[in-house]
Amino acid sequence: MSGATGANGARRKPIVAGNWKMNYGPTEGREFAESILGDLIAIPQVESVLCPPAITLTAVHAVTDGAVKLGAQNMYFEARGAYTGEISPTMLQGLCTYVILGHSERRGYFGETDELVNRKAKAAFEYGLRPIVCVGERLEDRDANLTERFITTQVKGSLGGLPAERLSELVVAYEPIWAIGTGRAATAQDAADVVSLIRAQLAELYGAEVVAGVRVQYGGSVTSANIAEFAANPAIDGALVGGASLTPDFVAIVQCVAEVKG
Ligand code: 13P
Repeated sequence: MSGATGANGARRKPIVAGNWKMNYGPTEGREFAESILGDLIAIPQVESVLCPPAITLTAVHAVTDGAVKLGAQNMYFEARGAYTGEISPTMLQGLCTYVILGHSERRGYFGETDELVNRKAKAAFEYGLRPIVCVGERLEDRDANLTERFITTQVKGSLGGLPAERLSELVVAYEPIWAIGTGRAATAQDAADVVSLIRAQLAELYGAEVVAGVRVQYGGSVTSANIAEFAANPAIDGALVGGASLTPDFVAIVQCVAEVKG
């Protein structure tokens, strides 16, 4: 198996997730998933995850049928009740393996706080879903040399109190906000530096041995043209891809990760 070494010498399997954001309804989503499914299945060295909008999950699940894993883009932490417009963890069970939580667009446009993201992450574990928790600083923070402080606050606030014995199910996505949808990706070295910081903060919470099994992805303007640089860095376990996950370039990204990490 490819990937960096985690707890007890086990290797961390590279993971590339496609966050479709608010694109592709059920019909388009099913057609697109069908068009890339065979190619993704042919790259078993990398865990590929498709994250369609909630309303599209069932249609995509009907074609992937477990052969490629699915993730939701968000969920609420309660199992049921009077929460108009929300999706619960129990609704995702059986459809999704993963759920993206705390994406910067949720934090920025919909006011999600570290505390809320933390409640959602705990609920994901409680209901058998694997959280992909996003953290990342704004350009102002980076320019003011506040990246470390900002990321530390987000990691401690969003990722505390999780079940340590299941931490290898956690994925963290480092997505600097200034790199998302801008065409201006971070350098692999800058990304790896923050990934190391994330691991160090997690190690303070859970111990280094447990944290060695946690996968950390980079996200922000990833394409098949720049993924090799990120994949070549052993600290970076894969990518969370936005725009490029809506096209066959997603397959090229997964293929490249398989080749570079292989
Ligand atoms: P882009 O790849 O479009 O920059 O989006 C990154 C992202 O936000 C993935 O969650």
